[in-house]
Amino acid sequence: MLTSGGDAPGMNAAIRAVTRTAIYNNLEVIGIKRGFLGLMEGDFVKLNLGDVGGILQRGGTILQTARSEKFKTEEGINEAVKRLNDAGIEGLVVIGGEGSFKGAWELNKRGIPTIGVPGTIDNDIAGTDYTIGFDTAVNIAVEAVNRLRDTASSHERMFIVEVMGRKSGYIALMAGVASGAESILIPEVPYDIEEVCAKLRRGHQRGKTHSIIIVAEGVASASQIRDQILDKSGYEVRVVVLGHLQRGGSPTAFDRILASRLGAKAVELLMEGVEGKVVGWEKGGISVYDLPYSWEVKKEIDMELYKLADILSI
Ligand code: F6P
Repeated sequence: MLTSGGDAPGMNAAIRAVTRTAIYNNLEVIGIKRGFLGLMEGDFVKLNLGDVGGILQRGGTILQTARSEKFKTEEGINEAVKRLNDAGIEGLVVIGGEGSFKGAWELNKRGIPTIGVPGTIDNDIAGTDYTIGFDTAVNIAVEAVNRLRDTASSHERMFIVEVMGRKSGYIALMAGVASGAESILIPEVPYDIEEVCAKLRRGHQRGKTHSIIIVAEGVASASQIRDQILDKSGYEVRVVVLGHLQRGGSPTAFDRILASRLGAKAVELLMEGVEGKVVGWEKGGISVYDLPYSWEVKKEIDMELYKLADILSI
């Protein structure tokens, strides 16, 4: 098993679930350090029950992670396949996001039975309603906005909070709804800066003491939006970029449970001889799709919720 790409809270819970489910079924478990990078270097460690004790509540990944350019080359992939075969590894669980699954698929095509477990705060993987780490990241963003509201209302200020998500607006949308943001800017819906300013102005005229705008990093940087608002309305807006804070810290109960379920299912699938799949959680149950489905199909944003956010922040 390996973790790859950006770390996500709950990856450790998945590592624990994979390890313990496998050992429960009399399998031997090898942890691969530093993602595909460690795989190409043969950086392997045997995992016993005790090695995954005390990690359920810890953020990050005990196996560590990396983004590797070399693994995208034919030479890199062949090296990885050789390492796996030499070590007698019969099945691989890859915990990560879209880029990691593309790598997993390459290995699967070369005869390494592989299952993907979606671990990314971005929630941009098709075939699962939630990815591991997303719920924690949303809660961190909501907590940050709660804190900002205290200082914003004391000073009668406006804030723009930039959240992660790569090309996806999921974190921004969910955090925006949960924190009652006045405006939510996401890459899936083109924004109109005049409308953003008009909303701020209406709030101001109604006696609102403060406003919060949430912008997904895939739209523009918070400082670009600040400059546009200043230009159009003259309002001075403070900027907060949450950045990697959203990836750290203890996972929520939701992420721990999701990771436990998906990690265990990945092992069960490999034992049944299933390979080249990604496991997920869809409509209240486990889902299983071909790995390419997770990146070939664009995960749609919940437009109903987006419209509701607009109504509630009138
Ligand atoms: O995919 C997770 C993520 O945190 C994205 O939201 C963000 O765009 C990216 O990773 C940041 O990558 P890095 O940690 O390499 O700066």
